[in-house]
Amino acid sequence: MTDFQKLSTYAAAFIHPENDVLARMEEEARQVYIPIMEKSSIAFLQQLIRWRNVKRILELGTAIGYSAIKMRIAAGPNAKIVTIERDREMIDEAVKNIQKLRFEDSIQIVSGDAMDELEPVAELAPYDLILIDAAKAQYERLFLKYTRYIEPGGMIVVDNVFFHGLVCNLDGIKKRQLHGLVRKVDHFNHFLSERDEFDTVFLTVGDGLAVSTKKPLP
Ligand SMILES: C[S@@+](CC[C@H](N)C(=O)[O-])C[C@H]1O[C@@H](n2cnc3c(N)ncnc32)[C@H](O)[C@@H]1O
Repeated sequence: MTDFQKLSTYAAAFIHPENDVLARMEEEARQVYIPIMEKSSIAFLQQLIRWRNVKRILELGTAIGYSAIKMRIAAGPNAKIVTIERDREMIDEAVKNIQKLRFEDSIQIVSGDAMDELEPVAELAPYDLILIDAAKAQYERLFLKYTRYIEPGGMIVVDNVFFHGLVCNLDGIKKRQLHGLVRKVDHFNHFLSERDEFDTVFLTVGDGLAVSTKKPLP
């Protein structure tokens, strides 16, 4: 069998950052372990945004603004991206990065916990696409909370649904806390696949992407 990890690394090597700011962000994230999206995952998301002419995007989990900037590049100058982050230091970094590219008119960072009611989020709804890339333990609650902000045809994309492959190896995880977290992600994947109001596909891209499209009303 082909080594999936090897193949992923091979494919990711073809993806190059669009500008120096992104190149530096990738390097910084690698050096200080900031968990930005994997190259192939964000590249796929950029294609999805182009295919579907996505303009209004909500992101849960900004970190240093890497995926928000990448999505903005794919969606073009008319894009409106709202991105939620609760960590002050991350927000400060993201603001700087967004300013370097003069994207502040199209990317709005909302400071706070995505589990709370955050006013600017409702203002731009409905969204064409919601990216969930926040705390894994909260995936199910975040999904349930934010479905109201998309209409039929709208998409919810969730990153890291394979949890470094651990979802296939639950019994082999010895650390209790990690086991609990992976079980939650596995449970979330089942929950997602059982949502009648969505069509969902799980993609073996990067660390696993779930793409769910809201079905038309019956
Ligand atoms: C995986 S990183 C996001 C990476 C980013 N999407 C990228 O690819 O550039 C997750 C981020 O979500 C934030 N986060 C986690 N749970 C959150 C929540 N409930 N509300 C707001 N931010 C959250 C963390 O502080 C962290 O910066």
